[in-house]
Amino acid sequence: MKYQTAEPFRIKMIEHVKKTTISERQTWLKEAGYNVFKVKAENVYIDCLTDSGTSAMSKNQWAALMMGDESYASCDSFFRLEKSVHEVFDMPFVQPVHQGRAADYLIAKIYCKPGQIAIGNMHFDTFRGNAEVLGAKVADLVIQAGKDASSAPEDFKGNMDIQACEDFILKNGPENIGLIMMTVTCNNNGGQPVSMKNIRETAALAQKYNIPFTMDIARIAENAYFIKTREAEFKHASISSIIRQTLSYCETAVMSAKKDGLVNIGGLFLTRKQDIFTMANQLAIVHEGFITYGGLAGRDLDALAVGLREVCDFDYLEYRIKQVEYLGNKLKEAGIPIIEPTGGHGVYVDARRFFTHIPQNEFPAQRLVVALYELSGIRCVELGACAFGTTDPVTGESHWPELETMRIAISRRVYTNNHMDCIANALKDIYLNRASYKGLKLTYEGPIQSLRHFTAGFELI
Ligand SMILES: Cc1ncc(COP(=O)(O)O)c(C=O)c1O
Repeated sequence: MKYQTAEPFRIKMIEHVKKTTISERQTWLKEAGYNVFKVKAENVYIDCLTDSGTSAMSKNQWAALMMGDESYASCDSFFRLEKSVHEVFDMPFVQPVHQGRAADYLIAKIYCKPGQIAIGNMHFDTFRGNAEVLGAKVADLVIQAGKDASSAPEDFKGNMDIQACEDFILKNGPENIGLIMMTVTCNNNGGQPVSMKNIRETAALAQKYNIPFTMDIARIAENAYFIKTREAEFKHASISSIIRQTLSYCETAVMSAKKDGLVNIGGLFLTRKQDIFTMANQLAIVHEGFITYGGLAGRDLDALAVGLREVCDFDYLEYRIKQVEYLGNKLKEAGIPIIEPTGGHGVYVDARRFFTHIPQNEFPAQRLVVALYELSGIRCVELGACAFGTTDPVTGESHWPELETMRIAISRRVYTNNHMDCIANALKDIYLNRASYKGLKLTYEGPIQSLRHFTAGFELI
């Protein structure tokens, strides 16, 4: 193994990327209202906006894709996917959906009545958005270290604060809690993992108060890698067995397959309960498609069936997590503040410590996103004042989140460490010049606050 430390794959097909100039990028930024979601992807040099739906598929996935049926009732592709789900997740009932947020809708609709609260370690935006639209409320009860981008390194910063969770249940009444959802890994605070111990304790707490325990498993394989490498009990366990054990504690799980499914589109709603499955089927027929395809083409189901098995490969996961760590180490060497340790799918730069002179109401993390695209053509995403901040509709008062980060999301099997070096070099130069940057003014926000970063508009101050 000593000499076999490179990426565990050969690059079989390439996509050309365009080099652009600073002045071109300044024009595009202005046209986009300083929101890089609106910059054309063809004008991006290295795209770290998201790790979702951006994986390079393997030759086996492309071959499976060609085997796929046109989808409708009981197509063969579905049964191949179902077999793979049974094998990898050991969950009996599978409702495919077109992507993760559709599964978020199903779970929020089935479990949360208007006025009820969904407890999570840290809910992802699309669950939060769906819950809000349906009249439910959400509470994030991740441990304190998981809320603070400058906290000392800890192995499992995605863990639920068990005491806070029990206090919250008692204060609000168990009958008012729709579900407890554990998101693994925890996207919004650095792709930080959750330990098996914490999953067990949270599930036990949910059981004590008769509250359904559910999971968001978009990055369950990355979480399993961290469990294997950081939790002594699992040192010799296979990734597949860790994944199955993780899921054994929950009754229902949702997955955006665009992450650890290694596909470009797709999602899953998985459950152990026949009655929940029946409800999901009905809602899926209305919103997604028939029970056996859920808005996907048969070929997408086939590519996912293969991707779910491939993601359990330890060599792949080791390469994946170590590439993220490589970039994190480069940034740390340059003194750039990041969430430590690096998590599963990206490096999160702490914009509070990066631009200490830009106040949160001038969007320091978004300013960093804009600066990085302007200087280098590299696109990242803000997870801070814009994504998580809110304005009270009655009082007009602003609430600012604790985390103010720029996420550098790394696509799976797409970039090499040369690309990581480019990102580090550009950020180093911005960091050296950091005092010369001023903040941003928010000029537009959409009606659903938890989703405002997707469409917000800004001006340079
Ligand atoms: C943890 C988590 N859940 C759900 C979603 C939503 O998935 P999708 O983008 O497939 O709708 C995401 C997307 O980034 C996510 O990170």
